[in-house]
Amino acid sequence: MEPLTYDPSGVLDERYGLRPGDLEQLGARLAKARDEVLDDVRLGRSGQPVPESKQPLDAAFVDLPDQLLAEWTRRQEASVLGRIRASGDRLARTVDRVVVLGIGGSYMGARALFEACCHPYHNELDRERRHGRPRLYFAGNNVDNDATRGLLDLLTDCQWDKGVAERWGVVVISKSGGTLETAVAFRQFLSALRASCGGDARRVADLVVPVTGPSGRLAELADAIGCTERFVIPEGVGGRFSVLTAVGLLPAAVLGLDIVALLEGARSVNERFESEPVGRNVVLDYTGVCHLMEERQGAIVRVLSAWSNRLEALGLWYDQLLAESLGKQQRGALPITVVNTRDLHSRGQQHQEGRRDKLITNLVVENVRRDPLPVGRIGWDHDRLDALSDRTLPEIMAAALAGTNKAYAEDGRPTADLHVPDMEARSMGQLFQMFMLATVAEGRLIGVNPYGQPGVEAYKRHMNDFLRSTPRDGQPD
Ligand code: PA5
Repeated sequence: MEPLTYDPSGVLDERYGLRPGDLEQLGARLAKARDEVLDDVRLGRSGQPVPESKQPLDAAFVDLPDQLLAEWTRRQEASVLGRIRASGDRLARTVDRVVVLGIGGSYMGARALFEACCHPYHNELDRERRHGRPRLYFAGNNVDNDATRGLLDLLTDCQWDKGVAERWGVVVISKSGGTLETAVAFRQFLSALRASCGGDARRVADLVVPVTGPSGRLAELADAIGCTERFVIPEGVGGRFSVLTAVGLLPAAVLGLDIVALLEGARSVNERFESEPVGRNVVLDYTGVCHLMEERQGAIVRVLSAWSNRLEALGLWYDQLLAESLGKQQRGALPITVVNTRDLHSRGQQHQEGRRDKLITNLVVENVRRDPLPVGRIGWDHDRLDALSDRTLPEIMAAALAGTNKAYAEDGRPTADLHVPDMEARSMGQLFQMFMLATVAEGRLIGVNPYGQPGVEAYKRHMNDFLRSTPRDGQPD
């Protein structure tokens, strides 16, 4: 398996107050943070009471890939992975559209997989060119009236009786089972689904697959509907760390992605995280460089510069992961994702000449999936591109990356490069696990509990108060 590689040589430079040996010097503290991350996993699994200083503790994501793969090897179709694959295949055979309802950690990972691994215009392709896999839509991640109605418009004419091409289903994902955005959307899409099934309750029960915690409102509702399949998010896995549970794996299986390879990629990063020394440990090196830049240079803005459109949703997933995990106690860097070369024409100016508060990490894809597309000839040369006619888009992209790094370096702007072999499921598994481990390791390094998100409770409380106490249309309740 081609591994992820990390090159921080553009950062470990005297100009930024850093020298190549600095990472090794931080090594003992990084290794301690790693030990704490691994101790957290053991503590969580031990069933021992979790000390207050460690609460909440959601470390079970760490060895989840190892566990799921071990069970898959032993039990194949009867394992959790086997069931997820079977459920994805069943939905794919039965319907042509799947609506994934969820918000935050309950949707962003699935979206990252969809955008990275599927055809960029998957939903526009006919069923054959989608290899018999359904179109995928995301909803329940906002309370946007027109967006919701827009998707319902697409589904209104879909009737079960018209055949597979007009059938649709719902994967509803909420760990707590009580998140308002997702719960509201579930009501609305459930009503539409009932109508499209002509009120046939048994059919609806087959077409709704919930992914939720062991108990809660969604679990109860799933009982009431009589859902024939459902998946439980394991205890001790937090929302934004749940992409490698059914939360991300079921939508991936619907799309026919190789979820075993996805987990194998994640497992390989675990092995490296546990065994490799600082200086060769992709997770700890990334964590250490980000930390040093923040502490010594005030680089409080972390720009993830994705050199592919396909990685934008992964970047947004990472934005959430970092922001919700470390944005506490007035700490935590500000994550921002850009897609290049697109955003060189929007944010590039600020990165080149704005405040010196940024660390740019380039996320570079080594191999494109499709044949490199040349510039070509059109019979005229008014655009002066004949000289480049044999050059391909990946070559232009590589020149843009090298040119951007050089321009930033000339002005003393630090950049590091994270190389990913391709955008196949295995590589995505590596990226997910690397970023999750780096985030919790950094939390332990700086003394911030990376788990939980106490800061998002206040808005929910106020929103509920407003909704339930404010008279509707000026009329008393
Ligand atoms: O990381 C988290 O826990 C959050 O982002 C949640 O994923 C998000 O709030 C959705 O919660 P739930 O899955 O309970 O609906």
